[in-house]
Amino acid sequence: MEALAKIPQHVTFIMDGNGRWAQQRGLERSRGHVEGVESVRAILEASLEWGIKYVSFFAFSEENWGRPEAEVNTLMSLMFRAMLDELDTLKRYGVHFVVLGNRSRLDEALNEMIDRVDAETADGKAMTMIVFVSYSGKWDIEQASRRMAAEGGESIEPYLSTSGIPDPDLLVRTSGEKRISNFMLWQTAYTEFVFVDTLWPDFRKVEYRLALEEYASRDRRFGKVK
Ligand code: FPP
Repeated sequence: MEALAKIPQHVTFIMDGNGRWAQQRGLERSRGHVEGVESVRAILEASLEWGIKYVSFFAFSEENWGRPEAEVNTLMSLMFRAMLDELDTLKRYGVHFVVLGNRSRLDEALNEMIDRVDAETADGKAMTMIVFVSYSGKWDIEQASRRMAAEGGESIEPYLSTSGIPDPDLLVRTSGEKRISNFMLWQTAYTEFVFVDTLWPDFRKVEYRLALEEYASRDRRFGKVK
């Protein structure tokens, strides 16, 4: 297979369509989320193979707290389980695992697991994997503004939860929806957007490669002329 023409530094995913994937098969929505975790695994492996240094996933938005309690619980326990199951693999691959979002809304056991995985993978040099949980772009800008004002800072960037992480070069949203849904609002100022109809559980290496080919064909000018 031909090498990719341009490798982004940071790719971010809005994983959408798990529920519809399950409904189309007459399954419970939670089955779609379980299958969605397999897609996360596939994307992580492909990213390592292609040398992408930052990969991030919008796993749970602040708005998602409004979903039925059973579904919220399923998603939280899936994330807990995935971290526990994948910790050794993350270490072996050299992946630093980070969770960003409003952690005060997460339960203690999940918070402890997040801290544990973060600490145990912190020396991972191959890649940083970021999972956004209980995150919203407006929340991030607000919390950053508050801290900036309190400290008399002059630029918002160092206060954003994503400080130190390069802004995404490419954002991929699955399932045919074409909106940002209160994700990284500040950080996506110059991000290229690729929207695909594929539902997240069906989004694997082949679909990822196509999105990267689309990205490689874009002419990024950052508001300047070339
Ligand atoms: C969107 O589908 C998907 C979610 C809200 C959850 C995605 C979360 C995971 C797959 C868990 C990830 C875990 C780790 C450790 C990264 P939807 O339910 O909105 O689908 P619909 O639009 O078809 O209803």
